Amino acid sequence: MRLTFFGIGYVGLVQAAVFAEAGYQVMCVDIDPQKIENLKAGKIPIYEPGLESLVRENVASDNLLFTTDAQEGVRFSPLQFIAVGTPPDEDGSADLRHVLTVARTIARYMEQPKTIVIKSTVPVGTADKVRAAVDEGLKERDRIDLAFDVASNPEFLKEGSAVADCMKPDRIIIGTDNPGTEQQLRELYAPFNRNHEKIIAMDIRSSELTKYAANCMLATKISFMNEMANLADRFGADIERVRVGIGADPRIGYHFIYPGVGYGGSCFPKDVRATIRTAEADGFDPVLLKAVEARNELQKGFLVNKVLSHFGGDVRGRRFALWGLAFKPKTDDMRDAPSRVVMEALWQAGATVQAYDPAAMTECRRIYGDRSDLALCDTKEATLTGADALIVVTEWKQFHAPDFQAIKLALREPVIFDGRNLYDPMIAQRHGLEVRSVGRKRLAPPAPLTQRSAAE
Ligand code: UDX
Repeated sequence: MRLTFFGIGYVGLVQAAVFAEAGYQVMCVDIDPQKIENLKAGKIPIYEPGLESLVRENVASDNLLFTTDAQEGVRFSPLQFIAVGTPPDEDGSADLRHVLTVARTIARYMEQPKTIVIKSTVPVGTADKVRAAVDEGLKERDRIDLAFDVASNPEFLKEGSAVADCMKPDRIIIGTDNPGTEQQLRELYAPFNRNHEKIIAMDIRSSELTKYAANCMLATKISFMNEMANLADRFGADIERVRVGIGADPRIGYHFIYPGVGYGGSCFPKDVRATIRTAEADGFDPVLLKAVEARNELQKGFLVNKVLSHFGGDVRGRRFALWGLAFKPKTDDMRDAPSRVVMEALWQAGATVQAYDPAAMTECRRIYGDRSDLALCDTKEATLTGADALIVVTEWKQFHAPDFQAIKLALREPVIFDGRNLYDPMIAQRHGLEVRSVGRKRLAPPAPLTQRSAAE
């Protein structure tokens, strides 16, 4: 079976490579010639565990082809996937420009019937717009005899485990109003639908909404927990105990109820905002989603507020060690990352930052360039030199079990601002460190060493 993918971003590249691995021949079309050249040489533009070797192997076996020639892509196969980006426009709505350009391109070059499958995350009603764009293109060419169909097939992969998520999807949503198209897509996904049924077929609009509903639900869980963490903080309760206590109820469950510095990345912030805008454009006020977004924005400032209050509201001239720049572990993605809000607020307040991240250093350099108030360090230990305090923003494995003794010795003030509740405040306290976390009871600051040894 042959497939064409338009748009070789995160979703397109991972899904195309996984289809190629399953034995299909996949042609990937992108307008960026440099990207295409690199991919042909097996160089991938993103950091994603397992992806580079998958791309290399399938390029070598000729199952994965790359081109900038859209006409070649359209002619290549009856199944045309649209996986181009839908970036937010100024008001946060999903910008469908690229999706509709691909639709028009398919209409311009098609000579055989096509099934057009929308993989990009798009608002409800987009399939109708794609259909209208193709119809129009065919009319212009006087080729309304050419049959085509449009289906929705959203993607649920997570950065950092994208290859595994795609290889073993927990669900495969097929949105179509046409039994023939459903059958075609069922066959395509058969290699990924073994052992137990994962395909959930539904009408197009429900499928389009399922993608947004899934991300909005997860974002809601996080914002809810972050709000509870604020309450715990004020009331002297421990949110980590509360988390375990509520997660035991199977109706709530343990997943996605970790409080922290707010959600970031390429999906949740963008999709929650886009859903809000689509609802508002239709005259509906999505009060809950607006609150989810508002809590997330406030939450990104949570750590900075703690830092500021700890230093009496003035951090001018202070230096902070910062662990974690990516919005989550196992990625170099800093889109909407809480680390950015933290760093920018500290700079604004006159402080400097010494940062380390296992994967996102190049990305950070690309975003911020050279600036005197940011030092990018080669190791997490190097960030501590001369720093007033340590701020932990991303829960990389490398940060889970630090040498508290070394941290205590290096910092000017023995305090860690733990944005992911990684550390047990009691253990840190035994090493003479205070941990300020998200929604956990504040322990008395450690006694000065001399006093402690006298007491012991
Ligand atoms: C998400 C969805 O999980 C995925 O299904 C969808 O296709 C794209 O969006 P991703 O953005 O890669 O994937 O990251 P995810 O692992 O879901 O984390 C999103 C954010 O939520 C991160 O900033 C993470 O730190 C935060 N988070 C997650 C929490 O703050 N608490 C949690 O309990 C879980």
